[in-house]
Order: sequence, then structure tokens, then C-alpha cells
Amino acid sequence: MTDRSCLMIVLAAGEGTRMKSALPKVLHEIAGRPIVQHVLAGATAAGADRFAVVVGPGREDVAKAALVQAPGASVFVQSERLGTAHAVLMAREALLEPVDDVIVLYGDTPLVTPATLARVRAELDKGGHVVVLGFEAANPMGYGRLLIQDGKLLAIREERDATESERKVTLCNSGIMGFSGEHILGILDAIDNRNAKGEFYLTDAVEVARAKGLNATVVEGTEEEFLGVNDRRQLATCEAVFQSRRRNQAMLEGVTLQAPETVFFAADTQLSADVIIEPNVVFGPGVVVERGARIKAFSHLEGAHVREGAIVGPYARLRPGADIGRSAHIGNFVEIKNATIEDGAKANHLSYIGDARVGAKANIGAGTITCNYDGFGKYHTDIGANAFIGSNSSLVAPVKIADGAYVGSGSVITSDVPADSLAVGRGRQANKDGWAAAFRQRMQALKKR
Ligand code: UD1
Ligand code: MG
Repeated sequence: MTDRSCLMIVLAAGEGTRMKSALPKVLHEIAGRPIVQHVLAGATAAGADRFAVVVGPGREDVAKAALVQAPGASVFVQSERLGTAHAVLMAREALLEPVDDVIVLYGDTPLVTPATLARVRAELDKGGHVVVLGFEAANPMGYGRLLIQDGKLLAIREERDATESERKVTLCNSGIMGFSGEHILGILDAIDNRNAKGEFYLTDAVEVARAKGLNATVVEGTEEEFLGVNDRRQLATCEAVFQSRRRNQAMLEGVTLQAPETVFFAADTQLSADVIIEPNVVFGPGVVVERGARIKAFSHLEGAHVREGAIVGPYARLRPGADIGRSAHIGNFVEIKNATIEDGAKANHLSYIGDARVGAKANIGAGTITCNYDGFGKYHTDIGANAFIGSNSSLVAPVKIADGAYVGSGSVITSDVPADSLAVGRGRQANKDGWAAAFRQRMQALKKR
């Protein structure tokens, strides 16, 4: 990668009315992460040193989301939507500081790869003044066309301003453009708004640069990378592309996906080699799965850490703060929230374990519930190593069951249980000899009357 300095400017002033949403377009999520954060993450991976984000008036929410991904970014407000060149000029303050390369990105175009951005940087490195990222469009309608003559980029023509023959061109402008930091302000300040839309077009940078004796070139990417989000269908298309890429990446890194198209990742899901993911597994944000772990079918994980060799599912739910120890087993219809399940412990059937520690090799019987909430506060349950909790027990927190203790099935445990002892907290059983036979006889006699 080049050692030149790079400023990336993200245009995120669009409202996205076609989303029909109270939420601005760039805050809709792909793989659990706002679109604008995908753009910034890609730019970071491509080696940006500085970021500027241009938002619409009153869009503190967009600024906030951007700053989560790029904490050092400068935020600028474009109060009036006067065009893409005008939007970039809102970041004038950032452009006044010396920088080698500037790349303009769209906040609603989340699939551009760092490798493609690196090619734009390489072109600037070779002495490019204006570098346009283009692509061959299956259907070029609505895109600016790249007009090339004798291998030279002469201009970008917007659909509305194009002649019939220019409209036949299929090489299109992705919207992403690189500039030499030295020349960008001179170029942008010379752009006017004499066009069909009366806007200051960033695309006019090509003709302006050429008139100044500067060069303009094209770097080509694939159409898929430049898919933008304008409505919910395009949001779903981008989600599908992201998921497909992410699945391929996981498999290439040594993760088995038995039915890849049924596994859904979050943008930050971390899986080690030799993890096996069965069909229909969904990862929410913040999941780490270590080597050799197996996630069985129909499980949902979020904010969870699954350690080496653990088995989770089928039909398990891991919620934030679930920490599943090495070779631990979490089985069907078990929900774990904010709880550490230490190495080799087992909770295999129908349980809720919340705000708890389950010691190493402890066994949690079917139907065990930690009663962690009284409508006001949350309380902790501590279960020691090698403890055995009989089925259908309720552990009323705060409560501590010490190492090696047994809890009889069906107990309601409200006070601490000492180590290696047995706690039974349930009604005592009473057998009444012959009661059932007598009862049946009485009822049958009644029915015959
Ligand atoms: C733009 C390009 C076009 C390209 C297409 C790719 C121009 C003039 N045209 O057209 O060549 O093929 O993108 O999708 O640049 N924005 C602002 N402030 C503004 C105007 C736009 O922030 O005043 C932002 C929008 O939020 C959006 C981006 O800039 O993220 C592009 O604007 P949009 O209006 O969608 O441009 P297009 O007509 O699609
Ligand atoms: Mg657009």
C-alpha cells in the first residue's frame, strides 16, 4: 500500500425518501451495522488517514453513527442540497489541510471493496489528478456516462444532460472519485451549475480538470460493488451481497458452513478455523466463536463468546454477555444471558440462565431457571464447579450454590447451598394406598345412575 496521506470524504446528506422511513437512509442496517459505517469501514481498510462526513441539516444521528466507526472524523453540514460538488465543498476546511489524495465516497454505497479503493489510490500515486471509478452497467439508466475518446476520459455526462448517442454508453460513473489533494479545491471551485438539474455536479470535475491541463482517468470495478441503497429492495439486495461475501470468506478461512445460504452473519462476526456451523444459524452483533466449536441448527447468537470445542444448539439462544467455556454444552431451547458457563459445564435442555456463573463441569438439569429479576433489579446466581442442579429447579437470585452441591429436582432454591451438600426445596411427597382405585369406583358408580 502507498504511504501517501489520504482524506476520504463521505457524502451522506441524502434523506432517502424512497425508503419510506423515519430513519435516514444511511442509518438502515446491513448485517446489523448502519450503511454509513460499512462505507467508513471500507475506507479505513483502504488506509484512510482522515475522514470528513457531510450530513444533512439536523442529522446528529448520522454524525453520531459515523463517529462510532471513525472517531476522528470531521463532520460538516450541507444545509441546502445543491449538488454533489457543492456537498464536497462543505468539507472545505478539511481540504485546506495539506493531503496527497482525496477520495469522495457515497454514504449509501456500502459494498465498495478496499481493494478497489486501493486501485484508485495507486492511480493517484502514478500522478492522476482526477480518477473516476467506473463500471460496465447491465442497465445504465440513471447513471452518469463516461465519455472516452482515444483511451482518454473526456467527460462524465449525466443521464438528463446526455444526447441520445451518449445515452448508449454503458461504461458508467460509480460516483466514487479520487483527486490529487493539491488540485481538488481549484477544480471544485470552478464547477458551475449550468445543467438540466441546476446542480453543482461533482462529475463536471473531469471537464474542468482537462480545461486546466490536468489529467482524468478511469479505474474500473464491478457493478456489484457500486450497488446503492435507495429503497428497501436495494437494501435487501445489498444485504444479500454482503452475506454471500461473508459466507465465502468464512469458508475460505476454514469454517464449515453446511448450508451457507441459510447462515446470516453480522458485520463483526468472528469465527476461527474448524468451527462448524449447521444450517439456519443467525449471528447478531458481537459474536466470537473459537476453534473447534460447533453451532448446531436453528441457533441465534448475539454478543456471545463461544470457546474452543463448545457445542451450542440446536435451537439455542445466546444473548449478550453469554460466555460459553471450552467444551461446554448448551442444548435445545436453552437461553443464556450475561452468564459465564465455565469449561465443560452442561445445560442441555429447556433452561434460562441469566446473570449467573456456572462453574466448571456443573450440570444444569432440564428446565432449570435462574429467577434473576423481581421487576426492579437483576440479581446474580453463582453455581460452583461440579454442582448438579436437578431438573425443573428455580434458583431465586441472589443465591449461591457452592462447589459440588446437589439440588433436588423441582426445588425452589431461595437460600445459599453449602459445598457438597443436598438442597431440596419442594413439597414432601405423600402416597395414599388404594386411593386411585377407590376414586375410580366411586366415579363409575355415579356415572351409571
Ligand atoms: C450521481 C452521479 C452519477 C453517478 C451516480 C452513481 C453526480 C452529478 N452524478 O448521480 O454520475 O452515475 O451518482 O450512483 O454526481 N448528495 C449530497 N448532497 C447533494 C447531492 C447529493 O450529499 O447536494 C449525496 C447523496 O446523498 C448521494 C450522493 O451524493 O449519497 C449522490 O447523489 P444523487 O443525487 O444520488 O446522485 P445521482 O443522481 O444518483
Ligand atoms: Mg443516486
